[in-house]
Amino acid sequence: MQKMFFNPTSDTTISNTAGDKWTAKPDTKASEKIKYSFKNNIVVSVKIENGETTWGTASTGPITDYNEKLDNTTLKLSKHVDPKLPKAQNDLINQVKESTSLRPEVLKMKDLTWKYLMRSAIRGKNIMMTGPSGCGKTMAAKSVVNALNRPDFYFNLGATQDPRSTLIGNTHFNKKDGTYFSEALFVKAIQTPNAVILLDELSRAHPDAHNILMTVLDQGQRYLRLDEADGSPTIEVAKGVTFIATANIGNEYTATRVMDRALLDRFIIVEMDVLDKEEEQSLIEYMFPNLPSKNIQAIADIVGGTRQELKSEAPRISTHISTRNSLEMASLIYDGFTLEEASQVCIYPQYDASGGIDSERTFVKQLVQKWSYDPESLDSGNDELFNIEDTDMTS
Ligand SMILES: Nc1ncnc2c1ncn2[C@@H]1O[C@H](COP(=O)(O)OP(=O)(O)OP(=O)(O)O)[C@@H](O)[C@H]1O
Ligand SMILES: [Mg+2]
Repeated sequence: MQKMFFNPTSDTTISNTAGDKWTAKPDTKASEKIKYSFKNNIVVSVKIENGETTWGTASTGPITDYNEKLDNTTLKLSKHVDPKLPKAQNDLINQVKESTSLRPEVLKMKDLTWKYLMRSAIRGKNIMMTGPSGCGKTMAAKSVVNALNRPDFYFNLGATQDPRSTLIGNTHFNKKDGTYFSEALFVKAIQTPNAVILLDELSRAHPDAHNILMTVLDQGQRYLRLDEADGSPTIEVAKGVTFIATANIGNEYTATRVMDRALLDRFIIVEMDVLDKEEEQSLIEYMFPNLPSKNIQAIADIVGGTRQELKSEAPRISTHISTRNSLEMASLIYDGFTLEEASQVCIYPQYDASGGIDSERTFVKQLVQKWSYDPESLDSGNDELFNIEDTDMTS
């Protein structure tokens, strides 16, 4: 048997160095470790290693007993190899391609958004996840970190009023050592090659944080200055470090500081989409498989109703119900609350009650009331009504 090596050139074809191509038969199963394809009298077997198709061998000579296998196997090649490109680029293309399977099932987002996110992280871009509150920005950012298998660091910049001590460190004094400097975890993070550094809630950060980060995030500078003074020591950002920030951008968010334009320019923006009614429903189903489907539908419908209204030309409400809130509603109902009770504690407080029947709260109440009856009791109610009429007629 003569052995030859092949390049996968597309999902279903491989070729040898002479340019001969072999194409897999369509619609056949890809369950075997060794797959077969053929051209004339040549059988090609391709080995799948660690789930990746990496190489193939061929035997020349007439096919005799391979026919059966040829009928029910397929050659499913997923590896991208373009001989014109350097190996590193081929590897990157393959890594991006494969990253689609690394999105956790629980995280609902568009495949394209996820792919863009993964590619940008692999490429070491500064990434800014934007979108309204509770739409999964932090969750998506953390999922990317998990999928990449690189050292990771998390900083919540919205939670700190003292960015200097979070990002740089503190000067301390004691009798024994005198004055000394203890550096922040962030200093270690940026010096860790290939680290993925989450900067959560950057839009809520103190303006000092923005200033400190400006040089760190600038692709041309990439250093952290330990002191404002000119000529003070700086720390270089290590090779391959990726920053992923999250931000609520939009005038709906009053607690959000207006992000500095120059800082924003240092990021590529990945916008998280708000889920539609069907996506919301499937997420709640996934999270609360034991919740009656009527309740799941109700929540998805109410939540979807607020989102649709917000998209309309003259919305009667100023904010939508977030996915975070909708899951909280589901968990309340799971714990025995009625839909109305869950709405009262979870939804209504977010909507202004002033303005009476024209108020935002009235609008969302109406969305909830659509679902606030028990269809069974309504049915029996109808029956009763009918009986009363009946008695009326006979009396
Ligand atoms: N797209 C989504 N897919 C799955 N779960 C989601 C999604 N969006 C929100 N959730 C749920 O809501 C919770 C809150 O999401 P997350 O903390 O990621 O929101 P956020 O966009 O970072 O909000 P904030 O702007 O307030 O920080 C998550 O823990 C998750 O349970
Ligand atoms: Mg968040």
